[in-house]
Amino acid sequence: MRTEEISAEYRRFIEEYLHIWLKKFENEPQKILYDAMSYSLFAGGKRIRPILTLEFCRMCCGDYTKAAPFAAAIEMIQTYSLIHDDLPAMDNDDYRRGKLTNHKVYGEGIAILAGDALLSDAFACVASANLPAKDIALAVGVLAENIGSLGMVGGQVLDILSEERELSEQEVLDIQSRKTGALINASCALGVIAAGGSEEQLRAACGFAGLLGLAFQIRDDMLDVIGTQDEMGKGVGTDAEKNTFVRLYGLAKCEELVDKYTAAAISQLDVFTDNEYIISLAKSLTGRKN
Ligand code: IPE
Ligand code: IPE
Ligand code: MG
Ligand code: MG
Ligand code: MG
Repeated sequence: MRTEEISAEYRRFIEEYLHIWLKKFENEPQKILYDAMSYSLFAGGKRIRPILTLEFCRMCCGDYTKAAPFAAAIEMIQTYSLIHDDLPAMDNDDYRRGKLTNHKVYGEGIAILAGDALLSDAFACVASANLPAKDIALAVGVLAENIGSLGMVGGQVLDILSEERELSEQEVLDIQSRKTGALINASCALGVIAAGGSEEQLRAACGFAGLLGLAFQIRDDMLDVIGTQDEMGKGVGTDAEKNTFVRLYGLAKCEELVDKYTAAAISQLDVFTDNEYIISLAKSLTGRKN
């Protein structure tokens, strides 16, 4: 199968799982909350992170379905992070995933709460996995550490604080590794954990994730300059005042670095014998248009 066909099958699998998960709540009196959660969850995200979870699980044990609750949780967290990232108090963006941002449709109060609910429900989803208790406990710890104060949320704080001044290269790298890298790290790690993979596989997955996350954010910063809103589904030129990689290195060097870090990420994958798809997925992200 071609890379895009495998990705499409993974996307279909994740979306079906998420639909079933959310359906449980459709008769609750706080229905507006589920409408707001569904609005952003099913707005057409690329699902890169849950695909990584499923694929690392498959590479380690042959059965990606074992990682379904972990992958769904990762996408709930990705969606929560975007809803909050777009709020007026943060990046103040109007478009996301090709549609108006959550707060533009549901108001700030419901948007904040939809994010809170996606984050909390994600942990319920992880806990519901039909896996050994020790693996679920490990997954909860790894996930919380990567998205909490030391990880993604910490990175978002540093990102906000840095708006007023010019940062050094090391500071930009440090923000990136937390705000974007940490969730990608958790995505790959949770796939290995769902499969009951080895320490060596976990180390390799995290090594790959760190470098892929860096390439991913550099490309995201480039697309803010060279992308179009139609292709991206989110506003462009909105980071002009921020400490992006483009501001740090310029576009030409960014393009080189995306290739360099992607190649370095791929070089971490030797411990996985059946790594053809993940290699072609990583390569396809270097030239992504959204
Ligand atoms: C956007 O992530 C946020 C960043 C870390 C750059 P994606 O580009 O993966 O967004 P979706 O999930 O496909 O909408
Ligand atoms: C978002 O980074 C990172 C998180 C949501 C944690 P950006 O602010 O660069 O993402 P976009 O460009 O709005 O998607
Ligand atoms: Mg932001
Ligand atoms: Mg943003
Ligand atoms: Mg961006």
